[in-house]
Amino acid sequence: MSGKRQTTSARSTGGAESASPAHDFLAPVFAQYPLEVASAQGVWLTNSRGERVLDLYGGHAVAALGYGHPGWTAALARQAESCQFQSNAVAMRVRARAARRLVRFSRLPFAGVFFVNSGAEANENALRVALRTTARAHVVAIEGSFHGRTAAAGAVSWGAQAKWYGFPRTPFDVSFIPRGDSAAISTHVTRDTAAVIVEPVQGLAGAVDLGAPFLTALRARCDEVGALLIFDEVQCGVGRTGEPFAANFYGVRPDMLTTAKALGNGFPCAALMMSPLVAASLKTGSLGTTYGGGPMACAAIGAVIAAIKEQRLLERVRRLGAYIRRTCVVGPVSGYQGAGLLVGLRTTRPAKEIQAELLECGILAGTADDPQVLRLLPPFILEEEHVDMLRDALRELSA
Ligand SMILES: Cc1ncc(COP(=O)(O)O)c(C=O)c1O
Repeated sequence: MSGKRQTTSARSTGGAESASPAHDFLAPVFAQYPLEVASAQGVWLTNSRGERVLDLYGGHAVAALGYGHPGWTAALARQAESCQFQSNAVAMRVRARAARRLVRFSRLPFAGVFFVNSGAEANENALRVALRTTARAHVVAIEGSFHGRTAAAGAVSWGAQAKWYGFPRTPFDVSFIPRGDSAAISTHVTRDTAAVIVEPVQGLAGAVDLGAPFLTALRARCDEVGALLIFDEVQCGVGRTGEPFAANFYGVRPDMLTTAKALGNGFPCAALMMSPLVAASLKTGSLGTTYGGGPMACAAIGAVIAAIKEQRLLERVRRLGAYIRRTCVVGPVSGYQGAGLLVGLRTTRPAKEIQAELLECGILAGTADDPQVLRLLPPFILEEEHVDMLRDALRELSA
């Protein structure tokens, strides 16, 4: 992996060569990197020409264990052989075990887990529970947030209505607090507020760490007015900060926590975890899903948590996160933000340019809503030598 190379894509968004093949029937809604992935192993992708690409993006933070992880692969194969699916209409040990493991892993006093399929669906259900439990109709979110594309999750995503929301109205009233503005909290969060939903580290925004003082102030105001605090840890959870969840990292307890992405290492799954009080408000029929909590998803969740523990990956996330920050402020990188292995490298010129140049050197990084942030979401199995490759490549780029 060295030097520049040509890149290809089925639907390139510019930059390198754009091979635009015959119509492929896929809805043309995604901008794609000029890269066609054929296979992957560890932290490496192999493109359709057989060249290796170092993956520092992990499929939007999903591939936490990297690719071809033996424990995860074996767990899925075993589950596929024994029983690939039964819904929540029957009890399954693999589901109960996944819920128990997830709550233990969280080190937080949660009493209920509702498994679903995607981050948006987890947030949709968290908001539903909050509105119903409090019998209120107002939700507060934070400027810069992204919570997903369903009706309720999209309603609390910053800028969605102008850009892509697509529904004629939001299902409840929403107001947004400027990031980190603790003084504005009491104006927005009132006795009419059902919930505050917040990404403790905003992912799509560019790895923006909202910080303990702001999150603590949100917790205090929610307690004061009887609103529920929801942490959206779809991107920053399951070890990405170097702690089980950002709630541990900041020492702030939410009433509900949603998570996905790294949770299944690529098998689609998500979870909504609830405090004892919230869990007690549910009864049969309050929530539902067909695929959520399916045995394959639960086998994947169990394998991810087991690997994080057995391979001491939280320690590694902390070490490698610090190593990136220590070594990669070079070339066009002027600083960093974020937490653990949710890293935003601040750039002196458009991050998209740097992303394209890195890809030509065989390194895949992400970008963010902030055009001057290169976003890294690498697998937790990353090693120092991989970071050295990034540092060396960045050094060669113009500042
Ligand atoms: C913080 C956050 N919440 C929610 C979502 C939506 O998750 P999904 O795409 O699985 O619906 C995302 C996806 O990027 C996210 O980063």
